[in-house]
Amino acid sequence: MRLSLRFIVPLALALAAIAYAVVPLVDQLTLKWFMRDLEIRSTLIAAAVQEPLQELVLGGTKAKVLRFFNKMTQDERLYAVGFCDAAQGRLVTTQAFPPDLNCKALDAFLARPTHLLPSAQGPLHVSVQGIEAEGESLGRLVLVHDMSFVQRRSEETKRYVFYFFVGLGAIVSMITVIIAQLSWRGWVQGMRALLRGEGLLRPAERINLPELRPLARDLRTLIRDLETEYRPRDESQITWSPEALKRILREDLKGEDIIVVSNREPYIHVQRGDTVEVRRPASGLVTALEPVMRACSGVWIAHGDGSADRQTVDRNDRVAVPPEHPAYQLRRVWLTKEEEAGYYYGFANEGLWPLCHIAHVRPTFRTGDWNQYAAVNRTFARAVQEEARTNAPIVLVQDYHFALLPRMIRELLPRATIITFWHIPWPNPEAFAICPWRAELVDGLLGSSILGFHTQFHCNNFLDTVDRQLEARVDRELFEVSYRGQPTAVKRYPISIEWPPSDDVMRESVEECRSRVRRRHGLGPHHAVGVGVDRMDYTKGILERFNAIERLLEIEPRWIGTFSFIQIAAPSRSSIEQYQDFEVHVRALALRINARFEAGDCPPIILKVEHHGPQDVYEHYRAADLCFVSSLHDGMNLVAKEFVASRDDERGVLILSQFTGASRELPEALIVNPYDIDQCAAAMHVALTMPLSEQRNRMRLMRGLIQEFNVYRWAGRMLLDASNMRVRGRLMTAETARSAAGR
Ligand code: G6P
Repeated sequence: MRLSLRFIVPLALALAAIAYAVVPLVDQLTLKWFMRDLEIRSTLIAAAVQEPLQELVLGGTKAKVLRFFNKMTQDERLYAVGFCDAAQGRLVTTQAFPPDLNCKALDAFLARPTHLLPSAQGPLHVSVQGIEAEGESLGRLVLVHDMSFVQRRSEETKRYVFYFFVGLGAIVSMITVIIAQLSWRGWVQGMRALLRGEGLLRPAERINLPELRPLARDLRTLIRDLETEYRPRDESQITWSPEALKRILREDLKGEDIIVVSNREPYIHVQRGDTVEVRRPASGLVTALEPVMRACSGVWIAHGDGSADRQTVDRNDRVAVPPEHPAYQLRRVWLTKEEEAGYYYGFANEGLWPLCHIAHVRPTFRTGDWNQYAAVNRTFARAVQEEARTNAPIVLVQDYHFALLPRMIRELLPRATIITFWHIPWPNPEAFAICPWRAELVDGLLGSSILGFHTQFHCNNFLDTVDRQLEARVDRELFEVSYRGQPTAVKRYPISIEWPPSDDVMRESVEECRSRVRRRHGLGPHHAVGVGVDRMDYTKGILERFNAIERLLEIEPRWIGTFSFIQIAAPSRSSIEQYQDFEVHVRALALRINARFEAGDCPPIILKVEHHGPQDVYEHYRAADLCFVSSLHDGMNLVAKEFVASRDDERGVLILSQFTGASRELPEALIVNPYDIDQCAAAMHVALTMPLSEQRNRMRLMRGLIQEFNVYRWAGRMLLDASNMRVRGRLMTAETARSAAGR
């Protein structure tokens, strides 16, 4: 049925085209051609007979003219000839000359010398040509041609054209049918079926060809491998940007969605009187991941703890963010006060945070907290399962709040690619061993496909810990752990920031920022300014920093009244006693130093314990002569990178603790030991007196590094590794199946 339709439809179309377009066209064309032919012929005849006719008309008789004309009409196409005498108006004609044509009627032919006349035996072509002698008109020669032969030839041509087009239509129809058959049923489908391992024919017609199956399998593998190989594998050749990330997701990860899980949400809705405000939290994790998610879209699952968070989500607990230009979904997870107390404040921040930072604050572990931690991890695992649109999603698990989550996701979605990133340091195995649930934590993390740390040192510490805690195979060459039959790659991915920094934070010029910040704090236009931006956290070395400022003023009194240090300290985890105590100490130390060195209205330390948005923070970076990052231990520290990125004027000096991950990447900063107060004071003096050319040289190198290793590269490298892992996984599954079949 389908076959006949495919044949008949093109044929019918061809015939219709012949009947309605080709035949009339051929008719018109042949008529035109023959008319033109006859016109030329008539002109030629008239030219040829001009002279003899002149003589006959001038000297001869009517009979002689008639005889001459009868000779002319022996030509089979010349039907009749006539001559209209100009002097007497007499018409001499051969016998067949149309009777209606007299000399008078010929006057009408003057405007157009060629005419078609109907007659009983068919149309006649009449051509009127003037005959002159010595510039005087002798009369008009009328040549009448028989057009019936034209009609005959036209009929013949039409017949041939008809046969030609019918033949052509039939051939085209045949070709159409054959191609359709080949492509739809045969070759292409057969190839596809072969690649699917179904044999060459359609299921109904399939013959069992087991010998083709290995070929199909190899072909499939080859195609996938080729696909993978043709991608630019050398990450240093990629220009790392949001577009590069999108390309990786689209091409390498076949458009798979990204699901990010973190405790801290990127946008917090807060009730302020009658209005709802949106806040950006002070969190390095959020600073880094937010631009990545803007590029990747997908879903970010986080704890909703803002006072207006519940009223801003839809019925699926989702809200599209960023609020100004939504690019991805924020899925909020709600926790009870007890859960938050046990999981977040308790186990994560009183236990794991001090355990991993080793900043001389003792970790506290409570069973109740641990239970809440496990329960909340389970809640987030369910949220991941709800948000996953396929059974093999890519899940990016963030930080120490979720050490158990990778294993839980692996149980719910065995084919998921789980990339876990540990944003804080990983301590040595001895330090980690004090945690009562150390084995469970490591087991949980080994549910990941990839586990990332900022530095190689932390990767090493983790492998040592695994070695100590579990019966797992640790491959130190590949940096891979095999545990419970599943591999986890342990890799270094130094986190970074968005580059170039967003226009929103760079809009004001450095000059404007300098004068504004100084004016705001009552400082003179040439007053030297240092800046520190941290959460109020004991790991940040804020007390050590203040001690160094005091020491600077002791040893270099010229900075008293000429230098002030603005410390922005965002309140953080304030329900925890150690954080409350820490804040009290920080405030007291600032007060004491200010009291000791206050000169006029210029306190040496301006302490601002309040939340600052990104614009405020960047304004301070751009206004400062130096930025001091004195963390006692820090996975990376993005404040250091933000300060460098903010200085497009290539000025300002970064003083950086040797205990930050950032110090490995930014050796052009003044690297200090924050516990060495004298060294830090000296570094501040060096910074404040550093020549501009040296500031520029250092800044250029640091800016170059951040530009090259921006946060898109951080995320892109993990996604590329994940993609390779997925390809390897597929190959291994195929290999296992092949060897099972061969056994
Ligand atoms: C560190 C952690 C992040 C955390 C941030 C802010 O950077 O690695 O996970 O979000 O501190 O702390 P907070 O407890 O306020 O989220």
